[in-house]
Amino acid sequence: MGLTKRSNINSLALKLRLAINVPRYNVFMNVLITGGLGFIASHTACVLAEAGHQLVLLDNLVNSKRSVLQRLETIIGKPLIFIEGDVRDEACLNALFKTHAIDAVIHFAGLKSVSESSQDPLRYYCNNVGGSIALLQSMKAHGIKKFIFSSSATVYGTPQYLPYDESHPTKPINPYGQTKLQVEEIMRDLAHSDPSWSMIALRYFNPVGAHDSGLIGEDPSGIPNNLTPYLAQVASGQLPFIRVFGDDYETKDGTGERDYIHVMDLAEGHLTALHYVESHTGYCPVNLGTGVAYSVYEVIASFEKAIGRAIERKIEARRAGDLPVYYADPKNANAILGWSATRNLDQMCASAWNFQKTSVSASSTKK
Ligand code: NAD
Ligand code: UFG
Repeated sequence: MGLTKRSNINSLALKLRLAINVPRYNVFMNVLITGGLGFIASHTACVLAEAGHQLVLLDNLVNSKRSVLQRLETIIGKPLIFIEGDVRDEACLNALFKTHAIDAVIHFAGLKSVSESSQDPLRYYCNNVGGSIALLQSMKAHGIKKFIFSSSATVYGTPQYLPYDESHPTKPINPYGQTKLQVEEIMRDLAHSDPSWSMIALRYFNPVGAHDSGLIGEDPSGIPNNLTPYLAQVASGQLPFIRVFGDDYETKDGTGERDYIHVMDLAEGHLTALHYVESHTGYCPVNLGTGVAYSVYEVIASFEKAIGRAIERKIEARRAGDLPVYYADPKNANAILGWSATRNLDQMCASAWNFQKTSVSASSTKK
């Protein structure tokens, strides 16, 4: 990137310094962020750094690009500590915990494709469950007991009632969801065995959107699986049309409904969770969602508004394993963490499109 362009981006990033929708807090922590260059982790890193926390990012780059680090440093305005390594690598973790006085860990590192997890479950159990066990063991050995885990609404499975609250039975319908539930169960057992642990499993609904700078966002390799990155590529002309997976569901317009949440709201949720584990012990799962479900057609309409033209669509068969509708009861997040989402669907789509224009289509963020 040329110097002029870079300094323009720097000043843009400065202007966009986060207006964090979370109360200020005067305890500053050293936080390890695993999977630190990934989609949700990178946005969380911005929010945490802006709030004054010191960060160490660990990532094996299995699903992220090293170039995200430089973009993050541009947004944050200072260098970051990055370690290229795997959460399953005990020696790497021990060296990390010896070198850096870590107070808390936010564990994003994981594989996340539902379909891939059905094709290669062992890889998913090894990475997601094995990685979490290795991390927790190393944390325990170094006396670090504050832990926030990236879980998923997928742990609930077929809805017995909606919205899902945290007491809803958990019965995942795919190996990916099973890996998340197993880690939650390990956390619960650990908290029972030693009450000095402080742990939260954050059950994300559908994270979308991007940082306002347009420098970081969701940039999957290959053809996207998820709705908004796919729409972004249709909008930019990389793909010809959006495939609508089923218009015959019993939903408001026949298409699937989901609780989409702006990734910056999600990132702020992690800051409140960090405050929480700092001052509480035990284990609890908390939904991070908005409590509102939007249909595929509503998301397409919002994306069309963002780009100012129509998006071509084709109705296809339902996608195997898709549920018609689900959304969060976010009351606990508000009661326990003092957090609620503030950004709407139009902001999610506009920011996703801004990222596509600024970073993905303009100059690929790939390695
Ligand atoms: P992502 O793939 O962008 O980020 C995950 C990061 O972890 C990547 O940078 C990857 O390279 C890294 N990673 C994976 N395995 C690793 C390992 N063994 N050691 C070190 N680094 C490793 O995904 P994301 O969307 O940002 O998701 C972050 C977390 O949130 C994941 O655990 C995911 O399962 C969970 N989650 C995501 C969603 C979603 O829709 N995006 C929903 C619910 C839960
Ligand atoms: N959809 C389409 N066309 C596409 C992609 C998706 O019509 O090209 C539809 C789906 O059928 C669904 C909705 O858009 O109705 C959302 O689908 P996504 O693939 O964007 O998201 P999912 O709800 O299937 O799953 C996502 C993550 C999971 C995570 C879950 C948490 O991919 O990893 O949210 O709620 F577990």
